[in-house]
Amino acid sequence: MIDPEIGFTADVIRDPERFVGRTRLIEQCISSINAATGLISVYGKRGVGKSSLLRQIQQMALGDYTVAKRAGLAHLIPNNPRRYLTVFYTCDSMIENGRDLLSRLCNDQNEEDSLLRLVPDDGKEIIEFTRSKETSAGADLKVVNWGAKGIESTKYAKVVPNDIVQTFRNFVDSVVANQVKKRMKRDGILIILDEFDVIKDKNGIGSLIKSLTTSEVKFAVCGVGRDLSDLVKDHNSVERLIEQGTLPVKPMEPGESEAIITRAAELFKGELKFTPGVAPLIAHMGQGFPYFVQLLGKQCVSVANARGAKVIDEDIVLEVKERLGRGEGFPTLEQAYQRAIGRSSDRQLLLHLLAEQSGEESMFSDEIGRIVLKNSRQDAMDLDIEYVDQLIPRLVEEKSGPVLERVSERQGVYEFVNPILRQYIRLRSLN
Ligand SMILES: Nc1ncnc2c1ncn2[C@@H]1O[C@H](COP(=O)(O)OP(=O)(O)O)[C@@H](O)[C@H]1O
Ligand SMILES: [Mg+2]
Repeated sequence: MIDPEIGFTADVIRDPERFVGRTRLIEQCISSINAATGLISVYGKRGVGKSSLLRQIQQMALGDYTVAKRAGLAHLIPNNPRRYLTVFYTCDSMIENGRDLLSRLCNDQNEEDSLLRLVPDDGKEIIEFTRSKETSAGADLKVVNWGAKGIESTKYAKVVPNDIVQTFRNFVDSVVANQVKKRMKRDGILIILDEFDVIKDKNGIGSLIKSLTTSEVKFAVCGVGRDLSDLVKDHNSVERLIEQGTLPVKPMEPGESEAIITRAAELFKGELKFTPGVAPLIAHMGQGFPYFVQLLGKQCVSVANARGAKVIDEDIVLEVKERLGRGEGFPTLEQAYQRAIGRSSDRQLLLHLLAEQSGEESMFSDEIGRIVLKNSRQDAMDLDIEYVDQLIPRLVEEKSGPVLERVSERQGVYEFVNPILRQYIRLRSLN
């Protein structure tokens, strides 16, 4: 049996060896990491590869440019790249606003990624560690012991009651003075905030970030959106900070998706081979979504295992496709599909019509995933689907996932919340 995880993973890509493509984005990352000030913003669709890019930014910020070298960009790496200590925080929808966010940052206790781990405290034990396999790569700091007093941010330096902004400033100042400068001799601290889009009230966050940004404190924000204004409402206040730092993550070009298969083949080290036709087939099914490509790759390995095969050929891909058609092999997507349908065969039909709408090309454009209800009305009527308007509400409700969300500017225009689910539906058979 061959472990699919050797070559494929559905996890965020931290290991630069597994990170594929994105050459142009890496180029931009290099320059924005090395700019003395400025905000880095990463945005794009769900499952398109944002968090993975963020982890590579973190790696480069520490001074490990493996991913850039692999992308053939060694010549762009400065002789003395700016080096940082890093904080990485993933937001959630319980965060109401900017203050809430700062409070979370001051209290998060993650051993490798939190701000609090870096704040000096007598009892705490912090050691250097590297985030990649290469020991020569840039080191970061992690906590191995929080000390006898336990973890409570009020025990740490300079907490100002009822003033989270000042408390946060104090924390950051002490980290910069003690860890960044004195201990690690770095240029600054990089605070990376993933899933920034889920913060409820984003008013004022732009000006907050602006006021906290210095030549020693840099922020990177990332989330689902079409541009920076989807992430930071008062984006005008950060406009001057973002010259090099806006990184739109688009669906992958077919060649990049194919490279995921090629890279997997390398990772399997000859234990498992792929015939030449396989990568283009999988890339096509994945429609530019690396997450889906990785899942398809995994399924191919499972089928190969079941057959006792050591070579993945087009026939195996075909079997994966047939199984997918029957709802087998992709439990998370299948569950989402079933929840959306909610036992209505009419809704199932409509969902397929909507998922099928418009040509493939549009999936690579800015309008990715947009659908117009009226374009499917005639088809729906031809298929005897009655009451289209009564089928839609469930699809935009929370309990269905939701599957669709309204695109506010235009009436009757929706978007699949998860473009990967859309592609799954396109490949799924009706019965
Ligand atoms: N550059 C890449 N190379 C290979 N696989 C990738 C790459 N980017 C993303 N992936 C795959 O796609 C999945 C989704 O990526 P992720 O970074 O979590 O996307 P997002 O944060 O946009 O939802 C990852 O778990 C990984 O399996
Ligand atoms: Mg993510």
